[in-house]
Amino acid sequence: MTPGATDLARPATAPGLRIAELALRAPSIHNTQPWQWRVHGDRVDLFADRSRMLAVADPEGRSMVISCGAALHHATVAAAALGWPAEVTRMPDPRNPDHLATLHMRAGHQPPRAVADLEALQQRRTDRRRFTSWPIPPERLARLAASVATDEVRVVPVTAAPDRVRVELLVSRAATIERADRRFAAEQRTWLDHSAVDGIPSELLPEPRQGASGRVSRFVDEPATEDTRGSIENSDGLLVIGTDTEGPAAWLRAGEALSQLWLHAMNDGLSVVPLSQVIEVDETREALHHEVLGGLLQPQLLVRIGWQEIARSPLPRTPRRPLADVLLPNGRRR
Ligand SMILES: Cc1cc2nc3c(=O)[nH]c(=O)nc-3n(C[C@H](O)[C@H](O)[C@H](O)COP(=O)(O)O)c2cc1C
Repeated sequence: MTPGATDLARPATAPGLRIAELALRAPSIHNTQPWQWRVHGDRVDLFADRSRMLAVADPEGRSMVISCGAALHHATVAAAALGWPAEVTRMPDPRNPDHLATLHMRAGHQPPRAVADLEALQQRRTDRRRFTSWPIPPERLARLAASVATDEVRVVPVTAAPDRVRVELLVSRAATIERADRRFAAEQRTWLDHSAVDGIPSELLPEPRQGASGRVSRFVDEPATEDTRGSIENSDGLLVIGTDTEGPAAWLRAGEALSQLWLHAMNDGLSVVPLSQVIEVDETREALHHEVLGGLLQPQLLVRIGWQEIARSPLPRTPRRPLADVLLPNGRRR
């Protein structure tokens, strides 16, 4: 069970354990939760868990590390909210590329926004239901994108009509390529209703739309038609999270940016859905890089953003593995 923000004062648990526990709520590709934590004293280590990597869709581990980056950002949000602001060392061990980060915590002040951020962290869901048809004003999208930019990561709004059309076609092409490949389809099926503690429960996926030509998400298997566009609506906001370089350090930063973007969007009343198929397929990732990002940025994730119906029913949470399952024994080298 993940505790609510009101449990912040719970005294008994060491802060490192509470921080790791709260970071479990991070989004991850297919809800694989590909991370492990080690807690000792005022230090918390994050490791990638390669046994949970998607061998077909993610052979290099990009989505695995992006997921871990999101967990790392969740951990820093939790640490700040608990009054233990953390300093992060990324890739601390050159001999172990799976050791992604170390958080060094110091007792300190709780920043003013910390509790609101923690509340957003606990309320966050991937809600794949269709957004309302209200378009997001471009300046609002630009503000959101700018709010998470760092030296290592840039977030690019896709607003120009020709770029949007190009992105939609690439998303559609990636979905068609993956659907035609039995290995992709089989791997994705494995993570639908995978277990009581991971994977994506099919009850959380939206119903296919009657008579629609497109699909709401990669998991909703509507009959293929000539026009497979439709996973993106005209009014959806689109952002590409990109990095200057490629490799695990860049992926980790991209994941941190995803988490930060998601929490900022929530505080702005907006909903976020990642779309990673276009990144998973080499051909469409390359096309996104050259044709939409001008060859300047490496695309790491596409996200669509919009407003959910105010009166929508609450979406249940996806499950998580218990903390004990992702905790490495203290002192054990990995
Ligand atoms: C790197 C990454 C890629 C993802 N790709 C997709 C995607 O292509 N389509 C989708 O519907 N959800 C995608 N998701 C969302 C995950 O499926 C979701 O985070 C996970 O099932 C846990 O659910 P939650 O976000 O509601 O906690 C992605 C998440 C991450 C971190």
